Amino acid sequence: MFIQKPRGMHDILPDEAPLWWRLERTARELCARYGFEEVRTPVLEYTELFRRGVGEATDIVEKEMYTFEDRGGRSVTLRPEGTAGAVRAYVEHKIYSLPQPVKWFYIGPMFRYERPQAGRQRQFHQFGVEVFGSDDPACDAEVIELGIDFLAAAGLEGLELELNSVGCPDCRPEYRRRLQEYFRPFAGQLCEDCRERLERNPLRLLDCKNASCRRIADGAPVITEALCDACRRHDEGVRRHLEAAGIAYRLNPRLVRGLDYYTRTAFEVVEGAIGAQGTVLGGGRYNGLVRELGGPERPGIGFAAGLERLILALKAKQAGEPAKTAVDLFGVAVGEEADAALTRHLRRLRRAGCRALRGFDGKSLKAQLKAADRSGARWALILGEEELRRGVAILRDLRTGNQKEVPLGELENWWTEERDYDGSPQS
Ligand code: HAM
Repeated sequence: MFIQKPRGMHDILPDEAPLWWRLERTARELCARYGFEEVRTPVLEYTELFRRGVGEATDIVEKEMYTFEDRGGRSVTLRPEGTAGAVRAYVEHKIYSLPQPVKWFYIGPMFRYERPQAGRQRQFHQFGVEVFGSDDPACDAEVIELGIDFLAAAGLEGLELELNSVGCPDCRPEYRRRLQEYFRPFAGQLCEDCRERLERNPLRLLDCKNASCRRIADGAPVITEALCDACRRHDEGVRRHLEAAGIAYRLNPRLVRGLDYYTRTAFEVVEGAIGAQGTVLGGGRYNGLVRELGGPERPGIGFAAGLERLILALKAKQAGEPAKTAVDLFGVAVGEEADAALTRHLRRLRRAGCRALRGFDGKSLKAQLKAADRSGARWALILGEEELRRGVAILRDLRTGNQKEVPLGELENWWTEERDYDGSPQS
């Protein structure tokens, strides 16, 4: 019986791979420009890391983690996000004792056992960044700027940035209390999830999608009025720097994030065209997390962008047409001897940077030329017994049909000149 891929997981086939390279290259190039270095942490971590890092009362930890026991009986979890692992590595390798700030980025798969739908998968990929060791609002603005620049460079210009402050351990408890006080009389009208959140995580009541919960949440007190002076000053600083950078934002006092580690700045970028799962990027500050995970007091801030959602958005705008990998030359041989010679000469050409394919299985000349056409190659290199005897190859320009002979010893030179003349791409 045929075995399918697990639900909510996707194959990325070769026709889409170039789009992925492009996004990944864009991310890497931008990170270099902003001074971020790459970190690669394990896909699997001890479950405790996410319980403590992401938070016991979050949907992710309560119901979305791929958790199992390894053969030694320890509970491990496929990472549902990248921040907790990055913080763990920062603490484990004592990176906090190096000069700060430390700026990291990562690209890789994450796993959440959610109900799959368009833009929501059980394995998905994030490009994320984390900055450790600075509490400067200019740092928040720089991280946001990098996120916006990344989306723009990927092809999503002009998306709306939503910004909020979720306060800190000084001012949030009072706000939580006010929220509970507000929501309690409505408890009977709230959905089951929200009734439970009311005691455990009342901030999450603000972003329930349920229509009746939403109506009630509309009248809830906003956090902006409950922020302490330090949080308010920080928030003003972030906005001042965003304005200086020319980044438009919309204040959304109901923006709360699905992870518990956030303090102060929280932000999201939403793309309206791709439906309910439209948040392409989200992040915020997490000043207590390094401490929570066993390190010293070090502030942090970061974001992650969902690459599948980004691709969906690009496709909705038809900006994501993947370019097929270009082929320069297709080798065609007739006869056993020529066939072996083709292997030798294609190797030389590939070493000189030529993207060269060939046919297999001893097909007829006609069939091989047809395959050459289909490959999209610019040139067909044709070798028969007669050419071999004379030490030449026929090079046919598949665009014009013109052909010429090139001495076999000159093939690399021919290719280098062609390439420089033609301006063929080199990557
Ligand atoms: P998050 O908001 O949970 O934040 O995820 C970030 C992005 O990952 C989302 O905006 C979305 O684009 C994508 N994403 C999340 N879940 C799925 C899914 N099931 N399918 C497809 N895409 C998804 C974080 O993960 C934080 N670690 C971000 C962060 C970094 N905050 C500070 N530093």
